Amino acid sequence: MAVERTLSILKPDAVGKNTIGKILDRFESAGLKIVASRMTHLTQAEAEGFYAVHKERPFFGELVRFMISGPVLISVLEGENAVALHRDIMGATDPKKAAPGTVRADFAQSIDENAVHGSDSLENAKNEIAYFFRATEVFARTR
Ligand code: PPS
Repeated sequence: MAVERTLSILKPDAVGKNTIGKILDRFESAGLKIVASRMTHLTQAEAEGFYAVHKERPFFGELVRFMISGPVLISVLEGENAVALHRDIMGATDPKKAAPGTVRADFAQSIDENAVHGSDSLENAKNEIAYFFRATEVFARTR
């Protein structure tokens, strides 16, 4: 399996509930390495740009409002099969449908506030990482 990088965002609900450490532990315990991380409060323009692919969806305005409602922790995770592995750990978009033991089942309340974002393909991961991080802000983890 190939070593990949994926973008992970701990959303304002997860940060607000003080569950950053518990959620990152799920990723690290599964073998993913944090190779970049930054807490930030997204601007409306940043959130709209990031979710531009969803701009025609009925929930777009609500999603953007939520994502700018408080700080988020944006990380790049690296590991074998990182994109799919991270999404498996996250669980389904709707926490009510998320498998037991997944982050969304354990830490999210609703589809509107679902704790975490993860890239859904390797190509999108590359674009999403470049959206938030310069190449010099992503580190090689040799140990
Ligand atoms: S899809 O159809 O696969 O593109 O949709 P999905 O990946 O499930 O969702 C895309 C992002 O939109 C968020 N979402 C919502 N936000 C607010 N309200 C509703 N009803 C809603 N449905 C989906 C969902 O959390 C996804 O955000 P990210 O940050 O990508 O996880």
